[in-house]
Amino acid sequence: MKIKILEISKSKNCDLEIVLVNKSEDLGDKKELLDSLEFKIKDEASIFLPESKLIFSAFEEFSYDSIAIAIANAVKKASATKYRSAKVVLNKELENEFKALVEGAILGSYKFETYKSEKSKNELELFFIVEKKSAILSDILEESKIISEAVNCARDMVNTAPQDFTPKTFVKEAETLAKELELEIEVLGEKELVKQKMMSMHSVGRASIHESQLIHLKYKPKKAKTKIVLVGKGLTYDSGGLSLKPADFMITMKADKSGGVAVLNTIKTIAKLKLPVEVHAIIGAVENMVGGNAYKPDDILKAKNGKTIEVRNTDAEGRLVLADCLCYAQDEIKNIDYIFDFATLTGACVVGLGEYTTGIMGNCENLKQKALESCQKCGEYATKLDFNRYLKKCIKSEIADVCNISNTRYGGAITAGMFLDNFVYEENKEKWIHFDIAGPAFVEKAWGYNPYGASGTGVRFAVELIKSLS
Ligand code: BES
Ligand code: ZN
Ligand code: ZN
Repeated sequence: MKIKILEISKSKNCDLEIVLVNKSEDLGDKKELLDSLEFKIKDEASIFLPESKLIFSAFEEFSYDSIAIAIANAVKKASATKYRSAKVVLNKELENEFKALVEGAILGSYKFETYKSEKSKNELELFFIVEKKSAILSDILEESKIISEAVNCARDMVNTAPQDFTPKTFVKEAETLAKELELEIEVLGEKELVKQKMMSMHSVGRASIHESQLIHLKYKPKKAKTKIVLVGKGLTYDSGGLSLKPADFMITMKADKSGGVAVLNTIKTIAKLKLPVEVHAIIGAVENMVGGNAYKPDDILKAKNGKTIEVRNTDAEGRLVLADCLCYAQDEIKNIDYIFDFATLTGACVVGLGEYTTGIMGNCENLKQKALESCQKCGEYATKLDFNRYLKKCIKSEIADVCNISNTRYGGAITAGMFLDNFVYEENKEKWIHFDIAGPAFVEKAWGYNPYGASGTGVRFAVELIKSLS
């Protein structure tokens, strides 16, 4: 979608006009029209009037969610017509919500059509009409465009079928990015994983015909004061391995790469925005399959930091991949200021929080609070999940240093987070956050301005968090 800001004096003729309506404002002559249509001013209500070429879209509050959903609904209505341009006249109050307007429009217009024989035609041009153009609005437009286009790109990647998106595809995407944005890149195949003693990650991908890949992208601007490391779970498919998932639970597991995809699109965004912060993105790109060569329940794996792991379920594979990726990050990168991991780690997180909310875990209350605030600021839903000493005992192993599953059915999101804590070095304990994005990463129905399928979660809040820390 093309979006432009126009001054009212230079306003041009558009095919359609979008009117965002709220209870608190004076609707003038439009009130009668809306009353006659029995149009209720509440969130998610919108209507297209073909004769007058007007689209009304309602919102209840001047909040990110309300506004983004309103513009997304209007844009969807407009896209379903034959018309190709629309304008929205902004008053001062709406100008204050410009970020939500731009992002809601771009995120709301997303369609995944890779596998459809018939694609939609022309895209819509959207004009925001303002009293006076300002540098602030233009900056928001540019930044929000970059962010939401990265979210849409993440959605495309996650939605891509697992036969078309393998660990090598991750590498190709990362290499393209590296070239385009002058990032440094290092890639480790299975031989290098063995050399680096990363047998935890290596074992997970052993039965796949697609070789596991560890990707390390580096964005190092000259004036950087802060060093932030992002680690992503990039399971291009999670069949469960020998602890095979039941058929119904396997569907959607192409989305188990969402953490890796989020990390890739976050470093891209940071580089495009030219933020003065050093960012490293590390992706564990692996496929969890069955086969004669598969790793097994009862195997004992040794991770890069020397810790031994008793495997009791091969479906708890994400933590095994992240364990080694976390170690690799901390061994390779010195003087880390913050280290964040992103993973569709547990079904338990979805059960506990519902599909829309990310779980935030870590050892530093202050940092968890900052992470939560970043999510709230950019329209993503999240909540903190606290570690405790009793849950920590549930992942003890009788024969190894730690077990890859808990000995109780309860608290699975937190015990998975506490498993990862075993691979965060002492000096980095307070600098680390684990984001369990299993819920919002992929939802099999449209919600708000999000479509059916991948939401691209993680990109917006990671960018917001990095901005707040740099
Ligand atoms: N990829 C899944 C977690 C998941 C489940 C993500 C549903 C998105 C939606 C993960 O690898 C997994 O299978 N976890 C197991 C852990 C269990 C064996 C301890 C789970 O959550 O059931
Ligand atoms: Zn699994
Ligand atoms: Zn998984």
